[in-house]
Amino acid sequence: MATVKFTFEDPDIKPRTIENVPEGESILDVAEDNDIHLNHNCGGVCACSTCHVYVESGDDSLEEISDKEEDFIDRAINPRLESRLGCQCVILDEDAQIEVQIPDQSRIIGHEH
Ligand code: FES
Repeated sequence: MATVKFTFEDPDIKPRTIENVPEGESILDVAEDNDIHLNHNCGGVCACSTCHVYVESGDDSLEEISDKEEDFIDRAINPRLESRLGCQCVILDEDAQIEVQIPDQSRIIGHEH
């Protein structure tokens, strides 16, 4: 089972480590299942940039980035080399150790699903 550590750009939110994550889940799925706020305006179909995250480590255990994903990342706030879209980061390795930073969600205009 995979482990995903979430850290947060917002200093008021404490890091969370989620264990026993089955492969096939996306980072957005893991966040949602554990009440971690990550916007996802398009519903997870790679058609927005609101689920933007920074994958600090473990990127090689995730589904590879697509051209379409890169295009949407360009429209995110403060994209970096380690930027991904959380809904497209499907965990492929059952022993993955992944660390993800969630950008400050208060700067993103989201709508709840
Ligand atoms: S939720 Fe829209 S691209 Fe991930």
